[in-house]
Amino acid sequence: MRTKKLHIGVLGSGAGSNMQSVVDAVQVKKLNAEINIVISDVAGATILDRARTHNIPAHWLDCSAYRTKLDGEAERACIQLMNDHGVDTVVLAGFMRIVKRRLLDAFPNRVLNIHPALLPAFPGLYAWKQALDYGVKVAGCTVHFVDDGTDTGPIILQKTVPVLEGDTPETLHARIQEQEHLAYPEALRLISAGCLRVEGRRVIMNDSTPDASAR
Ligand code: GRF
Repeated sequence: MRTKKLHIGVLGSGAGSNMQSVVDAVQVKKLNAEINIVISDVAGATILDRARTHNIPAHWLDCSAYRTKLDGEAERACIQLMNDHGVDTVVLAGFMRIVKRRLLDAFPNRVLNIHPALLPAFPGLYAWKQALDYGVKVAGCTVHFVDDGTDTGPIILQKTVPVLEGDTPETLHARIQEQEHLAYPEALRLISAGCLRVEGRRVIMNDSTPDASAR
């Protein structure tokens, strides 16, 4: 299976374990990609430290003009940084702000997000806790293209986990995160293999799916 190398820009606010899963997949040649830049709205975020450990350019972006979104000057600066670093695919990995149209238009159908629930159930914050409080028996994660809404874009793939008796928000989140770390590289592999096309809300997978070991 022929794949096209992805040039990834990551946006994150926290620990960066999902970014790490992408770095690891690239290192073991399960994903034909390079992470060209990591940008965070949180100056001391671990995701920036992780990036520096791997010699990936790491930038803090002052987004303080807004509390919950990436907009205005910061949005423009973010797009500029991504372009300057040759990014063609934007990966939101625990980025705690809503991204707006200007960024989406700069990377059409190339902004991805991972959400710790089986969308459309439990969008928004602390999705694993929402799922636990609701009493579902199956939880999971979703990788999707980003659109104008919050956690509403076309779904690329989902992975499930059981909710166990005695689960706490923390134990359930940890189980979901194990699946996230498989799901994000897998979704990116599908994009690099040119396997996906978006038709309305649906993400259609071509007949041929990539061999996980192929580059
Ligand atoms: C993940 O649970 C992801 O689904 C959510 O934010 C969390 C980020 O974790 N969007 P990390 O920073 O990748 O470790």
